[in-house]
Amino acid sequence: MPSIAYVNGKFSPIEDAVVSVEDRGFQLGDGIYEVLRTYQGRLHAVEEHMRRLFRSLDAIGLKHAFTSAALEEIINDAVKRAGFTDSLVYLQITRGATKRAKVFPQAVPPTLVITVRKLELPTDAMRERGVAIMTADDIRWQRCDIKTVCLLPNVLASQRAAAAGCFEALFVEKDGTVNECASANVFIVASGVVVTPPLSTRILSGITREEVITLARKNGVPMEERRITLDDLLAADEVFLTGTTTEVLPVVKVNDRRIATGKPGPVTQRLHTLFRTLAD
Ligand code: PDD
Repeated sequence: MPSIAYVNGKFSPIEDAVVSVEDRGFQLGDGIYEVLRTYQGRLHAVEEHMRRLFRSLDAIGLKHAFTSAALEEIINDAVKRAGFTDSLVYLQITRGATKRAKVFPQAVPPTLVITVRKLELPTDAMRERGVAIMTADDIRWQRCDIKTVCLLPNVLASQRAAAAGCFEALFVEKDGTVNECASANVFIVASGVVVTPPLSTRILSGITREEVITLARKNGVPMEERRITLDDLLAADEVFLTGTTTEVLPVVKVNDRRIATGKPGPVTQRLHTLFRTLAD
C-alpha cells in the first residue's frame, strides 16, 4: 500500500500531492499541524488531538469552517485507503495560498493537507537500553504551546543532536530550566516521585504527557508538575520522554553524563506498560 496524501479535497499517492508555491505555510510558516497515530488501524486519542488542533487555529486567528467531525472523517478515510496496521497521520492547516504579504489575507481559503504513512517507532533495542539526548539552548519563540509549523529551532537542535548520535534535543533555558525536547515532553523520577514541567507557553501540551500524568495518578504513582532544572535532571533516578511517536521512552544519557545506573528504570518501564495497555 502506498503512503497517501489529501490536499484540499483530493486524495493522491503522497509523491503526487502538491500545494501552491504561494502557500503561506511554505512562504511564512503561517500554519499549524497535528501528528496522530493509529494502533491496529484505530486512531489514538483523536478527540484530544482535535481539541489541541482547534486551540492552535484559534491561537493564530486562522479563520476556517472545519469541524472536528469532518476532519476525523477525512483522516479515517485516508487511514483506510493507506491500509497500514500502524499509521502516522500528519495534518497541516495553513492560511492559504495568495500573494505574499505578512498581514492576514481576506477571503482566502485555508490549505488542508493530510498525509498517512507507515509508522516507524523506536526499536526494541532503544526501549530496552534507553537513549541518549543532548541539551540545546531554548532559542524558540514565546508560544511553544501552539503547534505551529515554524519549527526551524527544533530542526536545528534535532540535527545537532542526531549528528552527535543522540535521539533527541532537550531545550533548556539560560537559567537551567528544562522545558521539553524538539519532538517530545520530558519527565524525571526523583525519590520515587514522577516530575514533569508544568504547562506554560514554553512547552507543548503533549497528549501523551497528559495520558501519562493521568495513568500515574490513577495507579498511585506520586506525580508532580513543577519546574525541573538541568541539575535536577542530571541527578534524577530516571528520565523519560513522552510523545505520539515515542510513547514512553527511557533516557539513560544526557550529553556525556549517565543517568543513575545508565539503565532504564522500573518506574519508566511500569508507565510504559500501563500506557500500552491503554493504547492497545
Ligand atoms: N511532536 N513537544 C513537542 C515540541 C512536540 O513536537 C511533540 C510532538 C510533543 C509530544 O506531544 P504528543 O504527545 O501530543 O505527541 C512535545 C510530533 C510528534 C511531531 O512534531 O512530529
